Amino acid sequence: MSPNSKLTSTIAIVGAGDVGATIAYSLIMNPVAGEILLVDPKEEVRDAQVQDLSDATFHGNTSTRVRAGTHKEAGQCDIIVMTAGAKQKKGESRTDLVGRNKAILSSAIDDMKPFASDTILLLVANPVDVLTYFAQQFSDLPKNQVIGSGTFLDSARLRGILAAKAEVAASSIEAFVCGEHGESQFVAWSKASIGGVPLELALPSNIKLDKNAVAEETKNKANNIIENKGVTNYGIGGVAASICKSIMFDEKNILPVSHWQEDLGVCLSIPAVVGRKGVVRTVEMGFSGEEKEALQKSAKTLKEVLEA
Ligand code: 2OP
Repeated sequence: MSPNSKLTSTIAIVGAGDVGATIAYSLIMNPVAGEILLVDPKEEVRDAQVQDLSDATFHGNTSTRVRAGTHKEAGQCDIIVMTAGAKQKKGESRTDLVGRNKAILSSAIDDMKPFASDTILLLVANPVDVLTYFAQQFSDLPKNQVIGSGTFLDSARLRGILAAKAEVAASSIEAFVCGEHGESQFVAWSKASIGGVPLELALPSNIKLDKNAVAEETKNKANNIIENKGVTNYGIGGVAASICKSIMFDEKNILPVSHWQEDLGVCLSIPAVVGRKGVVRTVEMGFSGEEKEALQKSAKTLKEVLEA
């Protein structure tokens, strides 16, 4: 299917709060689906979001329609984006949310069953890597069909920071944050490049890059935003819509999404090819020794949360 074909696909967004509504809005502005279903037990909020989002579709040339839906209907959609759950408050970490959000996820998945055999379950709620793992367990869907937004957003933030330093477009920067979408994440510096040229060579000679500072700034960006506006929604809205687009149009983009790692026994982000079947394959990154260590450390951190 090309972006110009009549869109017939359906995407369910579970959780009609700020994050769910912003993902829906991004999917309307860059049309991916024929129909978007909003699912939320808070019916008044859900219906108000449906009305407001529908208003955004009644001009221009989008044929996307938005309506309220049930968990059962969500189970039959092409993609189910799971945003429902508690959000970090000031001073909370993503992993502090695990107990509350695991229970919400388990009950939502029970209500969605049986799933359409080719549905893709995209986890966005936090802690995203842990919830991706649990969603694989609870849903019984093939593991490649259950993925998390992972460090795609951190990677976008990293590109933004590097782009400002190098004074080039963020789209000309190839740089990935890998591992946990959280404290133990790491930057795959050995693979970072600008316009295909290794980062160190490509940076103007007057720029001294403090990699630790850049990695910290990237990692702390969400907390800084939450501190001041209580939520992050636009960054994740854009990122989740890009993942949906890569799935629905079978684009096979290489995206740092959270997915099952057989050798590590957890879900975390390593760049992967993403298409209609979800994760088609993990990219062999050729990490440096230091990066391999960071990956193991991130997996250990996530295992501890899973086993707590
Ligand atoms: C973010 O990184 C809070 O996980 C969310 O924006």
